[in-house]
Amino acid sequence: MIRTVSTKPYSDQKPGTSGLRKKVPVFQQEHYAENFIQSIFDALDGFKGKTLVIGGDGRFYNREVIQKAIAMAAANGFGKVMVGQGGILSTPAASHVIRKYKTFGGIILSASHNPGGPHEDFGIKYNAGNGGPAPEKLTDAIFAKTKTISSFKIADIDPIDIDTVATVKAAGMTVEIIDPVTDYAELMESLFDFDALRKLFKSGFRMRFDAMHAVTGPYAKEILEHRLGAPNGTCRNFKPLPDFGGHHPDPNLVHAKHLYDEMMGPDAPDFGAASDGDGDRNLIIGKGIFVTPSDSVAMLAANARLAPGYKDGLKGIARSMPTSGAADRVAHKLGVGIYETPTGWKFFGNLLDAGMATICGEESAGTGSNHVREKDGLWAVLLWLNVLAARGESCKQIVTEHWETYGRNYYSRHDYEEVESGRANALVDELRAKLGSLPGTSVRGLKIANADDFAYHDPVDGSTSEHQGIRVLFEGGSRVVFRLSGTGTSGATLRVYIERYEPDKSRHDLDTQEALADLISAADDIAGIKSHTGRNKPSVIT
Ligand code: G1P
Ligand code: ZN
Repeated sequence: MIRTVSTKPYSDQKPGTSGLRKKVPVFQQEHYAENFIQSIFDALDGFKGKTLVIGGDGRFYNREVIQKAIAMAAANGFGKVMVGQGGILSTPAASHVIRKYKTFGGIILSASHNPGGPHEDFGIKYNAGNGGPAPEKLTDAIFAKTKTISSFKIADIDPIDIDTVATVKAAGMTVEIIDPVTDYAELMESLFDFDALRKLFKSGFRMRFDAMHAVTGPYAKEILEHRLGAPNGTCRNFKPLPDFGGHHPDPNLVHAKHLYDEMMGPDAPDFGAASDGDGDRNLIIGKGIFVTPSDSVAMLAANARLAPGYKDGLKGIARSMPTSGAADRVAHKLGVGIYETPTGWKFFGNLLDAGMATICGEESAGTGSNHVREKDGLWAVLLWLNVLAARGESCKQIVTEHWETYGRNYYSRHDYEEVESGRANALVDELRAKLGSLPGTSVRGLKIANADDFAYHDPVDGSTSEHQGIRVLFEGGSRVVFRLSGTGTSGATLRVYIERYEPDKSRHDLDTQEALADLISAADDIAGIKSHTGRNKPSVIT
């Protein structure tokens, strides 16, 4: 039986950088999840009888919302849903399933790298038929629906057994529970030289992959240990847990410090990597060397031809604006296009669909390619492995040689988390107001060449996205960028991105924070970070 349930709008359901993210208790309010899911359906057209993919990163509340989404999909007229077994589908795997089976779209339940648990974060995002995050036009339409919603539709069905791979019927709709790993593993096998990787592991190459108790565990275990023959124990923390073992499933130098310490230690394996809550981010650490995500995208782009899936070269490279310019230098050398987009993977979708870019990356540990329409943590790890196998060199050799060839972009991001929203907005407003007066002035001996509020003009659909981050560009190519996070769930997070280009090889082994010290002070002088936030240091430095 289909029920129409009356409901009242919630005023806070505006999707952020990556879908709607809130604390679990917010999602547990009466009809909160239902309202948002119905608003997604209400903003879509033409899905009657079509297929919807549903999966999540396994975090707390995942299973409950999956049941609601199935019952609502049935009531709203979908013909079929494909659900990852156990409610599991990594974000890139969901993107692949949507594309492979040409489904109408998909609902992914995740708050990415944010912690999980009864008092932590949950999220819902919608991906369109191209496998990519809903474009802004659609998220705006969804938000508009959330403001006027008065009822939702749900089928009265018993909970579906999502733990068994099977196909059943519910309220006239087909429910197919799929193995979440197989399709994805096959895709990886089609892109990379698995024979070469098997040889690499056979020769004694040692690797550590930390799944951080998040969704990538089953994928990494299958691909690295079962298909590629890496020794048992290569994957660590590979069982997805609803609270990620009480940790932040965020593969950075703070939350994966144990991996960093191991990789810098005397008995370090050859290669270390980690992924986040929903499997789209990556952390790459070679023996004795951390690879910044901005460098990683540049290095992967420079070497991509070594992997079978990219042997014909790249169409172009795209990076988010705050990501360092290292990839630009590779694009120039390869003679391919380079695109600078706002933060958030959704902005790469058009470029990928139009065949203008092949590899994309963000400074926030996201790298990916046209194989799906999301960033893909394990993909980046496998491409690195393929490059290492093909070149027969260590990660450190590859990185230092890259810097010799292209110069080094020293890069760091300073985050001020959970700042009171009013104070963070005041900082940004003040900065915005003085942008026009900055060019030509000097701070800490650094001359400001230009300052602007980044606006993106999508070359494919002609749309414009404004206020995507404030850039202060110095003479000589250094810069600082300021923006507020669009994924936080409490207060505001101020992100300050700092970059200096260093062509001189004799200056390539400086400590990053030291190499950027004058720019870091300049950023505070320009934006009054300390006085506005009341903090004397960032909460997280990556
Ligand atoms: C953050 C990252 C951004 C990434 C997003 C989703 O967004 O900065 O690059 O696409 O998470 O993983 P932010 O919180 O900065 O809006
Ligand atoms: Zn993620």
